Amino acid sequence: MLWNQGKRTNISAYWRTGVRKLLQINWYEPQCSASAEQLLASPKRLREGTVSARGSSGELKHTFPSAKAEREGGIKNIPVMDRFWWKESAKGIPHMVTEPPGPRSREMHGRTTRYFKGLSSQVKLFPVCFEEGSGITLTDVDGNRYLDFSSGIYVTSLGHCHPKISGAVAHWAKKLMNCHDFTHPVKEKLVEKMAAILPGKLNAVQFYSDGTTAVEAGIRAARAITGRHEFISCYRDFHGKTLASVSCARMFRGDVHSYGPSRAPGFYMVPRPDPYRPLFTRDDGTIDTDRYINFYEEFIREGTVGNVGAFVLEPAQGWGGSIFPPEDFFPKLKKLCDKYGILLFADEVLTGMGRTGEWMCMNHWDTIPDIVTFGKSFGNGFPVTAMVVREEFGSALEKISASSSYGGNPMALAAALASLEVIEEEGILENVMEVGRFFMARLEKMKNDHPVVGDVKGKGFLLGIELVKDKQTKEPFEEAGRLVYQKAFRKGLAWIPAGHILRMSPPLIMDQHYAGMGLDLIEEAIAEVENESGY
Ligand SMILES: Cc1ncc(COP(=O)(O)O)c(C=O)c1O
Repeated sequence: MLWNQGKRTNISAYWRTGVRKLLQINWYEPQCSASAEQLLASPKRLREGTVSARGSSGELKHTFPSAKAEREGGIKNIPVMDRFWWKESAKGIPHMVTEPPGPRSREMHGRTTRYFKGLSSQVKLFPVCFEEGSGITLTDVDGNRYLDFSSGIYVTSLGHCHPKISGAVAHWAKKLMNCHDFTHPVKEKLVEKMAAILPGKLNAVQFYSDGTTAVEAGIRAARAITGRHEFISCYRDFHGKTLASVSCARMFRGDVHSYGPSRAPGFYMVPRPDPYRPLFTRDDGTIDTDRYINFYEEFIREGTVGNVGAFVLEPAQGWGGSIFPPEDFFPKLKKLCDKYGILLFADEVLTGMGRTGEWMCMNHWDTIPDIVTFGKSFGNGFPVTAMVVREEFGSALEKISASSSYGGNPMALAAALASLEVIEEEGILENVMEVGRFFMARLEKMKNDHPVVGDVKGKGFLLGIELVKDKQTKEPFEEAGRLVYQKAFRKGLAWIPAGHILRMSPPLIMDQHYAGMGLDLIEEAIAEVENESGY
């Protein structure tokens, strides 16, 4: 039976499973466009254990666990959301009441940085202070409301404070916060869910609490599986800030890692294919993937001691500027790795769990890695990450204990489980594919229309605009990158700079209307910079 709690915006569905217990689903109708009567009239049982109801702003659907799973899982009161829950808070954005960063932001920033040190360039360039986030909307302490094109930092991919995910965390925050690496009901459900959604037999899992520790675990796993100690990774990839991750990653001159010995022994870097700036080309100037692969093969033979455990890569470079390799790159690389018994380690911390329209970015190329890491979108803002290897290597994970103070705690895994469920329930992958096509079509047009837009790149909601001084020479236009970032932010777009490549990672719930709005703000900013720079 569906139950109207008497509030226009909060309708709860109760369903009796057998004679045992009542479950509750909360369906918030932020737009208030579905009346209680509509909901009351429409529930129907689709199949055993499933209840559904349709309102004007979406469909409520929930499959209840069996009595046994319910008893063992103990999860009750699971909120299932209308997929447009975020639209009410987005009304009227961007809405700027002061020139940002406003007076309260400036004051707060000044007091904080008296003690807090080491801010990223993103914050230094635009020292705004946020106090609220809902869906695709961020509100600063001066009351300015921004359209979010960053998802935190590729993190809150299902929207800020998604009610189902926040609800799941709150539920376990009141029930069981930590039980070391003992099994608990959410862990049981999450590992089964991951085994079901990941391709091949990627199903041996460990949980951690940030991306870099998951990557470290992947390196340990590669050593445990192969007994080898050398690793190859790529220029301009990023994998985190602990020693093995840093050893696989780009280092910046002046960064602390560049003082003294910079990489752990046995870690090597090679160039990876960037279609806009290819190093190896065919006679016609197009990128030649085979020459990259041949170079790697020669490097394995000549530049290592023949003990390479894994090739570690981001499927697409996030920090490097949303750079995707040619379609044939990963299938060919996997073949090379297999030839030499080298594991392919895909670091999907940034690209995974829907960002590019697939659960894993590697799915675009039908290539199943041997090791994979997830983070960021995995818990939609709650610090939770995972390292997964193929089933055949699972026993080797016994050599690297999964014990971790925070990894796998019930709150964290509840956030991850709820996030994966939201991706399915709200049709997120389909939305990312569809709106992603719109994004790319608009970006291509921008490339044609603007002299400083040298290249545009992306898949799904992982997007980039590369600014150049001249389309022939492709000289990076760093200053324009900084100015466009600041101007668009001032107009009400919260986003991410990366030198001359403007990066975008909007929440995956975004529709075409807001996607177009964000690109309008960016295009206005680009046009202003072009005018000011005499183009
Ligand atoms: C691909 C990739 N791997 C690992 C990391 C490190 O994650 P964390 O900052 O959670 O340690 C990042 C962070 O940006 C990343 O982009």
